[in-house]
Amino acid sequence: MPYNSADEWPNDPHNLFHLWMQDAEKNEPNDPNAMCLSTIGPENMPNSRMVLLKGYDKNGFIFYTNSESQKGRELAANMKAALCLYWKSLRKQVRIQGMVECISAEQADIYFNSRHPDSQIGAWASQQSRPLSHREVFDQRFTEFKKKFEGCEMIPRPDYWNGYRVTPQKIEFWINETHRLHRRCIYKLQSNGDWERDMLYP
Ligand SMILES: Cc1cc2nc3c(=O)[nH]c(=O)nc-3n(C[C@H](O)[C@H](O)[C@H](O)COP(=O)(O)O)c2cc1C
Repeated sequence: MPYNSADEWPNDPHNLFHLWMQDAEKNEPNDPNAMCLSTIGPENMPNSRMVLLKGYDKNGFIFYTNSESQKGRELAANMKAALCLYWKSLRKQVRIQGMVECISAEQADIYFNSRHPDSQIGAWASQQSRPLSHREVFDQRFTEFKKKFEGCEMIPRPDYWNGYRVTPQKIEFWINETHRLHRRCIYKLQSNGDWERDMLYP
């Protein structure tokens, strides 16, 4: 701070994101890594839902999901997406736009294996985003898969359960100020790999 002109903002948006995320991890009471993921559905209809940010670095922002879910199917048809994080305790927002790709099976395996066994079984039992006639049907599937994997040293990752990386082309940072006189800075990736930044009116 004080961030009064674009050149007072950090050069690298990834470093700034990391600082804000570290701050959120200390100060947000719940899910500092929750983010809204927007995809584009049929007839160009936007579609948003929350997912958890499970990794980030200079290459992008990673979340995990069922590739047969609505978001999975939308991403298969259109790999453009937007992310939005808002930390109520910090009163800060980050918006990201970019292209999405699946991460490697090896990387997805590592994360899947780190999950609680019941979450792993949940990934097998849930036909995410498909109609469910009764909760009991899901509970039943969960019990069946639990039995199937009983005594299994390692529950395998379903091949429809994957990690996705959003590679950013634009990252915007927003800081709340009193009377809605907020501060914003947008970073745009250039063809040479540099980030150009501009402040925006609130
Ligand atoms: C805080 C929060 C975090 C969530 N994290 C995930 C996640 O990491 N992956 C996921 O598939 N769904 C997650 N969900 C559920 C999704 O919001 C959504 O209901 C589900 O993925 C189905 O979305 P779709 O039908 O658009 O594919 C989360 C929901 C909330 C409220």
